[in-house]
Amino acid sequence: MKDPVRIAITGAAGQISYSLAFRIASGDMLGKDQPVILQLLEIPPAMDALNGVVMELNDCAFPLVQDIVASDDPNVAFKDADFALLVGARPRGPGMERKDLLEANAAIFSVQGKALNDNASRDVRVLVVGNPANTNALIASCNAPDLDPGQFTAMMRLDHNRAKTQLAQKTGKHVTDVESMIVWGNHSATQYPDLAHCKVAGKPALELVERDWYETDFIPTVQQRGAAIIKARGASSAASAASAAIDHMRDWALGSDGIVSMGIPADGSYSVEPGIMYSYPVVCKDGKYEIVQGLEVDDFSRERMNATETELREERAAVEHLLG
Ligand code: NAD
Ligand code: LMR
Repeated sequence: MKDPVRIAITGAAGQISYSLAFRIASGDMLGKDQPVILQLLEIPPAMDALNGVVMELNDCAFPLVQDIVASDDPNVAFKDADFALLVGARPRGPGMERKDLLEANAAIFSVQGKALNDNASRDVRVLVVGNPANTNALIASCNAPDLDPGQFTAMMRLDHNRAKTQLAQKTGKHVTDVESMIVWGNHSATQYPDLAHCKVAGKPALELVERDWYETDFIPTVQQRGAAIIKARGASSAASAASAAIDHMRDWALGSDGIVSMGIPADGSYSVEPGIMYSYPVVCKDGKYEIVQGLEVDDFSRERMNATETELREERAAVEHLLG
């Protein structure tokens, strides 16, 4: 039997966590042979609800769960955490953009960055889900000077998975036939889902779909999918967000099957200068992610990659006071 790993989840009484915590507990993230200790964080008014979630987790009698800690203190919830999924933040409502949440949510991530810095395992892997995810991840990492910025990531996997499904449905194939999907930039309406390198059942995607569908249907559909779900459900995506978080962490820890998209510190690759959390194509292996280098970028792609970078720099400027 492996030693248990400590997994912190914030916003643990919220919608996303109501799927996420149970799937992690059942072994979907790190495997059916990996025992886990769940460390759940909420704010004081949500502690009763969190205790209800803990009761339900206990009632599942999950074989892999060794312990459950529920707290409203980030120093307790992040203690020795090997993985931290930062979900707790306000979701947007109809008519809002995710960056409209910056003011409401940014402060959460400076506090939690400090608490991770002071308490988490030195190898902690952090995924920020709470919106605006990329800039919140930047805030958390800037407030954790003793951790490597590369330990902080932002969730782009939901966008990546959405893009795969749109393309699979259009081409009459299965999502497992889609390879080398890339979503660049920000988890926002400026994100760029790029088909230039993508293949479906071994054939270049751009030879299988009309250019007009790509530019005027596929790209905006993926960019606006979060808003479409809010309109349809009256609440933002939850189970699909949890599933994407599990995919992201599982691949980071255990390896990816080809290219996936992750929001990570920009390092100058593809001419995106450091200082923002930008989504790149990466491959995960041996517990690490690596940017896939050398892909050709045409003028169409460059314009869109620049637009989403510009938005991230604007978001950064708005929270400069929280970057330590
Ligand atoms: P929710 O309102 O149902 O749950 C959020 C929970 O966070 C609440 O229980 C709240 O009490 C808690 N919380 C607030 N401040 C906290 C703090 N400082 N510490 C700990 N917990 C805190 O919202 P949700 O639907 O679960 O969504 C959570 C966030 O995830 C939102 O910001 C949403 O926009 C975002 N989201 C991101 C993606 C993505 O792809 N990156 C996808 C879906 C949702
Ligand atoms: C999503 O993409 O579904 C989430 O970021 C929620 C939102 O605000 O769109």
